[in-house]
Amino acid sequence: MAPDAKAAGAGGVTAPTRTLIVGSGAREHALAWKLAAEPGMNEVVVAPGSAAIGTEPRVRCLPSIDPLDAEAVVAAARAISAELVVVGPEMPLAAGVVDALRNAGIRTFGPTQAAARLETSKAFCHEVAEAAGVRMARARVFSEGEEAAARAYVAELGAEGGGVVLKQDGLAAGKGVTVYDDTGLALDHVRSHLAGRGPGPALVVEERLAGHEASVIAICDGREAVALPASRDHKRLCDGDLGPNTGGMGAYSPLPDLPDDAVAGVIDTVHRPILAELARRGTPFLGFLYAGLILTGDGPVLLECNARLGDPEAQVLLPRLAVPLGPVLAAAARRDLAASVGAWPAGLPVLPGASVGIVLASDGYPATPKRGLPIEGIESAEAEGALVFHGGSIGRPGGGYGTNGGRVLTVVGRGADLARARDVAERAADLISWDGLQRRHDIAASLPPAPAVAIGAGR
Ligand code: AMP
Ligand code: GLY
Repeated sequence: MAPDAKAAGAGGVTAPTRTLIVGSGAREHALAWKLAAEPGMNEVVVAPGSAAIGTEPRVRCLPSIDPLDAEAVVAAARAISAELVVVGPEMPLAAGVVDALRNAGIRTFGPTQAAARLETSKAFCHEVAEAAGVRMARARVFSEGEEAAARAYVAELGAEGGGVVLKQDGLAAGKGVTVYDDTGLALDHVRSHLAGRGPGPALVVEERLAGHEASVIAICDGREAVALPASRDHKRLCDGDLGPNTGGMGAYSPLPDLPDDAVAGVIDTVHRPILAELARRGTPFLGFLYAGLILTGDGPVLLECNARLGDPEAQVLLPRLAVPLGPVLAAAARRDLAASVGAWPAGLPVLPGASVGIVLASDGYPATPKRGLPIEGIESAEAEGALVFHGGSIGRPGGGYGTNGGRVLTVVGRGADLARARDVAERAADLISWDGLQRRHDIAASLPPAPAVAIGAGR
């Protein structure tokens, strides 16, 4: 699998030759696949990575490294003389792995623990967005002991008829949010959200908004931002957006209703104000800043920030990029994105066409995924022209792979347009099987129309 790549140095930046990626999911697989095929890259090392990630050309994994052990990650970066470290998942970011790497003088792309609070605390995200003048859903934050006030606010929002959303403050792997049509049920659940949470913010009660969602992710250096194209995740487990929220069951890009040339407008109205506010507070954000938006009749509204690339968004976005990513990440890590922003004011250039990713998940996901089942058909899926990124697989002693987590694989189809990309992804996903495999069949199946009026003004 080799991504198309043009000459390094575009945007006035130089390519790192040895890169360490921290993580082991399908997002990190896609990052390793992209970076390892770029000009000038000698080796990509993934800690811990996985058996499947280690089969990519020029990629090596360090399976014994615990990604939450900052000292071990620093030692690994030193041992391989990494010129750039990219931290993928939220847990090591929340654990301060980036802080440890920077303190050790290692060039790192990712936010500090303090800046990653944008993701690790939904209450903090609301506070920063409000100070930055960025529109979010109306919300209030409650702590243990404030049950009566929380119930009153649920009732107040419920009376408006649009439904309410209860969000646990703190990391929950995309599973701490429940959207309620029925206010009575939300009232019943307030107590369980607040019980035993200790001091500090515990629960965010939010108005429910209606609209299609979009993920807009930017590469940030603390002040400046370069956009990736918009993509759309599908958070619910089942077709028709039914069932529980998950980490994401499939994604596609580009979006008819937030086209690539409209993304710069979102960066100007959401990302840049947030970057400015965090810099003002002395905790500048350097890393992938992910804005989860809902596109309402009244314009885009921010639902959440993440401090990293989305998963499965990364798996559909990275194959679309027409330029090497390593030099841009390295420039951001040097706090010097100005040349890239100057070269690409509308966002990173993309290849023609579209990509659609379908997540294949284990039986029991998201509650209790079953592990250890043999996976069939990966090679046939790849022979259909799909990319298969591994998130929760393990190498089996006799060869092949078994399931080893909730979201096991992301199967990505590429094509001239979304319909053709979806055909490839569907055909390839149909060829993969294991006992109890769960997946959606409606990723990119019905597309929202293009907006009548462009969203935001481009830079
Ligand atoms: P979050 O982790 O905050 O993005 O929430 C996870 C998912 O819950 C989102 O992707 C939406 O599908 C849904 N959600 C969150 N907040 C709202 C809201 N205020 N209105 C409607 N749906 C929401
Ligand atoms: N796909 C949503 C996320 O990565 O949080």
